Amino acid sequence: MLVTGGTGGLGALIAEHLVTAHQAGHLVLASRRGPAAPGAAVLIARLHELGGSAEVVACDVADRGQLAAVLAAIPRNAAGGHRAHRRRPG
Ligand SMILES: NC(=O)c1ccc[n+]([C@@H]2O[C@H](COP(=O)([O-])OP(=O)(O)OC[C@H]3O[C@@H](n4cnc5c(N)ncnc54)[C@H](OP(=O)(O)O)[C@@H]3O)[C@@H](O)[C@H]2O)c1
Repeated sequence: MLVTGGTGGLGALIAEHLVTAHQAGHLVLASRRGPAAPGAAVLIARLHELGGSAEVVACDVADRGQLAAVLAAIPRNAAGGHRAHRRRPG
């Protein structure tokens, strides 16, 4: 699942909800600053603690090329793969 604005206040809440209430598969949280956004590392750690799988990517969704690249990197069969690759080692 792709959450745009995923490192913001509402994005973090939505991401947590997707993991806890919907057993979401891998989450891709996109924002312009990406991993450099304040709290991004803490958010990823929290989602992993909750049993989720998530990453933060830098992407300006107003830029068609950047968004296309992010979408292209999401495997076509990713939907429905919940709990298949939870909890990365380390
Ligand atoms: N919080 C509320 O109670 C509330 C209520 C009603 C409506 N809203 C609306 O809901 C939206 C999110 O609210 P929020 O409180 O979560 O705001 P926020 O904490 O400022 O988060 C906004 C997120 O969007 C990202 N972002 C902004 N422009 C982007 C772009 N072009 N491409 C990719 N990511 C982008 C920001 O990261 P970067 O800056 O790194 O890109 C950040 O992660 C806003 O439009 C707000 O007006 C919020």
